[in-house]
Amino acid sequence: MSAFAIPLTVVGSINADITATTERLPGPGETVGGGTLTRSPGGKGANTAVAAARLGARTRMIGAVGTDPTGTEVIAALRQAGVTVDSIAEVDAETGTALITVDAHGENTIAVCEGANAHVSIDGHDFADDTVLTQLEIPMTVVSALARTVRGFFVVNAAPALPLPAEVIDRADLIIVNESEYAALPQLRSARSVAVTSGAKGSTLFSRGEQIAHAPARRVTPVSTVGAGDAFCAALTIALRAGIPAEAALRTANAVGAYAVTDPSARPAFPTLDHFLSETGPAHDLLPTGPGKDKDRR
Ligand code: RIB
Repeated sequence: MSAFAIPLTVVGSINADITATTERLPGPGETVGGGTLTRSPGGKGANTAVAAARLGARTRMIGAVGTDPTGTEVIAALRQAGVTVDSIAEVDAETGTALITVDAHGENTIAVCEGANAHVSIDGHDFADDTVLTQLEIPMTVVSALARTVRGFFVVNAAPALPLPAEVIDRADLIIVNESEYAALPQLRSARSVAVTSGAKGSTLFSRGEQIAHAPARRVTPVSTVGAGDAFCAALTIALRAGIPAEAALRTANAVGAYAVTDPSARPAFPTLDHFLSETGPAHDLLPTGPGKDKDRR
């Protein structure tokens, strides 16, 4: 079994993404025509779960969708990717939707309508000693409840950017932010472990404000960066839990994130473990051959 086959629970958002690809992003009050429309499953939580499953993690998703046909479609996409979907609730609301615009340089804007994601709950769920990864497209009360409940490795992708409660910062084993968020949130200097993504400059791991590892980015021409952060979070979490040292884990996550930007939609370019290993060269040497640190649970 791959060292990446860790038991992972993702608690987070599940969306349908409606993406317009246009030459440039519209400004306030402006209409830009000539777009190409794509509908695809998305959501920071669900994207992370799919990226993790493709890399070989035994991934369960806790989230919520509506009872509408979109809810059925987004669950089917997760199931098809190998994610365990039994813990996804169907609630009386519309399935979450993200309205995305991507320009010719891969820049984007995203407007999210939370819908069913506002009803995510962890009541009645058992986490055993799973690694648990969450994001901030679900109620912060749920993130705080996770901080009080999770016994295993607890990871918070602080996206979209919001101030984190002290109990979450104190409990998290790993917080992932981008560099402007790290600069804007001084309280993160007290966190045990913070991974900071800096786009083309790569990513850096800090502990209590001190840099402990850095890895440069892989050079790639972005088609769309939507979902790249989600893939980065999945890969970094899995690599660290698989026992890969910090600098190499960052390098692995940068490489997985670089794959993700090569498609207009969030998920199609997320690599499988075999694909990743066949193309990344040096990263191949980084993978321990034994089982990961987590014990088998499912
Ligand atoms: O991180 C990318 C995701 O953010 C998109 O898939 C969209 O659904 C928004 O939630």
